[in-house]
Amino acid sequence: MSVQTSDMPDSPAGDFANRLLGWYDRSARVLPWRIAPGSNMAPDPYRIWLAEVMLQQTTVAAVAGYFARFTGRWPTVADLAAADDADVMAAWAGLGYYARARNLLACARAVVRDHGGAFPDSEAGLRALPGVGDYTAAAVAAIAFGRAAVVVDANIERVIARHRLIGTPLPMAKREIRAALAPLVPGARPGDFAQALMDLGATICTPRSPACAICPVMGDCRARGRPDIERLPVKPPKKAKPHRYGLAHWIERDGAVWLVRRPDKGMLGGMRALPGGDWTDAPPSESGVVSVDHGFTHFDLTLTLVRRKAPPEAHDAAAEGRWWPIAELDAAGLPTLYRKLTDKMLERDA
Ligand code: ADE
Repeated sequence: MSVQTSDMPDSPAGDFANRLLGWYDRSARVLPWRIAPGSNMAPDPYRIWLAEVMLQQTTVAAVAGYFARFTGRWPTVADLAAADDADVMAAWAGLGYYARARNLLACARAVVRDHGGAFPDSEAGLRALPGVGDYTAAAVAAIAFGRAAVVVDANIERVIARHRLIGTPLPMAKREIRAALAPLVPGARPGDFAQALMDLGATICTPRSPACAICPVMGDCRARGRPDIERLPVKPPKKAKPHRYGLAHWIERDGAVWLVRRPDKGMLGGMRALPGGDWTDAPPSESGVVSVDHGFTHFDLTLTLVRRKAPPEAHDAAAEGRWWPIAELDAAGLPTLYRKLTDKMLERDA
């Protein structure tokens, strides 16, 4: 987009933080992992880390139930570290991006093994843990340990790109956004500051129809009143996603269906699944009982279910197959792709 320098005067950085934190004190969302502003409770780094890992690529609404189940079943990082891999993968089913669940376990075990069960309290220390990237390290350092880290998620990216009128397309804009945000981060309450920006992006500075009239930092927002404000931040051109196809096998016996565990490496690694062949670029020649379409980040998949009579002996023993009672499929921990397929199959048979 073409961007001209606005003649809007900028407020001092401290003023931005003060207005934002004042608004947060009045309007913070109540979230299960959050310490409410003004509370004297100490944040629990384990809960904050867990929430931040779950919230990557996933909405607050989708995470709430998972967060409650995980913290109910594994209340401390030591409990999670001692959990069976298969139980954690099954509990994660439906959240997507399953490598995150494997990294979650690796991280919990590293905290227990290498740090005596206490999360490192610096951004660099956190960043060195398995599966902890720049975002998670900064968010946990700020929210759990009060470090003045520069936290940038998609909501914050949008708020800052608009407020500072950064018209460079993503992902190139990331450096400018970070550079514009860094001087605004206050030494006091940096965790609340980060969460306030997240809430502002989620509730006021929304992708569509932002509610600028009630925004606490509208005074010096350079994008305010621009008809093209919704275009900020400028997205990169969409790449066409390839389409792939696969067959899944429905092998039923005595009210049970044959399920396998997918190999640790690759898509849906380590997750329980229906058996089936590789996913390919060409549609299968066989027509199935039911099909579902599913969008992954880098491709779309059409998965078709075909009945097979083959006994489990015919399957790869390394795939850890087992008969699972069809009446208890809900508890199998199937990822959404396979859940959609089994739901459709059972609806059809009903
Ligand atoms: N999204 C990611 N982390 C969050 C947090 N701590 N609060 C609200 N939304 C979030």
